[in-house]
Amino acid sequence: MNIDIALIRGDGIGPEISEATLEVLRALEQKFRLQLNIIEVEAGDRCLAKNGRALPEETVEIIRKSDVCLKAPVGKSAAEVIVKLRQMLNLYGNVRPTISMPYVNCLRDDIDFVIVRENTEGLYKGYEFDVEDGAAAIRVITKKASSRIAEYAFRMAESRNKMKKVIAVHKANVMKKTCGVFLRSCYDVAKKYSGVEFSDMLVDAAAMNLIRQPQTFDVILTTNMFGDILSDEAAQLTGGLGLAASGNIGDEMAIFEPVHGSAPDIVGKEKSNPLSMILSAKMMFEWLATRGSQVSEVSRSINESVKHVLASGKTTPDLGGSLSTEEMGKEIARQIFS
Ligand code: IPM
Ligand code: MN
Repeated sequence: MNIDIALIRGDGIGPEISEATLEVLRALEQKFRLQLNIIEVEAGDRCLAKNGRALPEETVEIIRKSDVCLKAPVGKSAAEVIVKLRQMLNLYGNVRPTISMPYVNCLRDDIDFVIVRENTEGLYKGYEFDVEDGAAAIRVITKKASSRIAEYAFRMAESRNKMKKVIAVHKANVMKKTCGVFLRSCYDVAKKYSGVEFSDMLVDAAAMNLIRQPQTFDVILTTNMFGDILSDEAAQLTGGLGLAASGNIGDEMAIFEPVHGSAPDIVGKEKSNPLSMILSAKMMFEWLATRGSQVSEVSRSINESVKHVLASGKTTPDLGGSLSTEEMGKEIARQIFS
């Protein structure tokens, strides 16, 4: 099988975690007789310095033509890269799972929920302007995007087949209009899914409950910025950002990337944990499998290998171990073969 993967190596720790992930992809290619065509595309701070643009048109074109895109974090130009890509390619669902991992210091061992974050509008539209004594931002919430992401979340609750529970997270007591549209759209969609339990929760209460009783969540459905903030919080429940993976999903295209940023403070020290990107690759194969590629086994193999390596106590420093980024990639790759 032949799969075209556009790869953005990104900035900061991006190139080193990309290299470790490529090591794993090469192992998967051999083991499963895949042909992964890695098409490197430029975007981010280094690309801006070199070409005068953080997101060249050529990059967008290549991503459009590829089967999927795998992306490392980019630096200061992230708003001009990933936020734009999400909107340009209509990648409306940002999917961020939080799962307790064995042998990782998790708050509890029974956490298993997913944040489904609306990915194309809200405060991320970029409508900001100066006003007399400061600046203002416009938060755009439409029925169309809210219903679309709600549908996605309900289907996710059904297919996960766990608690079958969706909680819409909002702040409609204050942002009556924008969160009002979001919440009403969620309630409308909920009517179609009688097999899924639905409720709503204010975002401040959700932030608290994520720490107080994370095991009670199944699918969290929320707007763009709330999802951004809650997903970093959620990552801390199950080992931190070094393990946090995500997918930006549209109807035809998807970009998989770590939840974290480019971590300039640890660049070049080979301390970064590549699992965030390796687990993003796992999500990528899961998505490709839903689109007809015979690669379910590939995502399972990544998952099993990651668990096995964690169980052996071989980890990067963020999880208490002493492996370098490169060594961690090699460990997972070796495990894929065994
Ligand atoms: C994320 C990141 C991005 C976001 C930044 C880098 C623009 O924090 O993917 O969560 O805010 O969406
Ligand atoms: Mn974020």
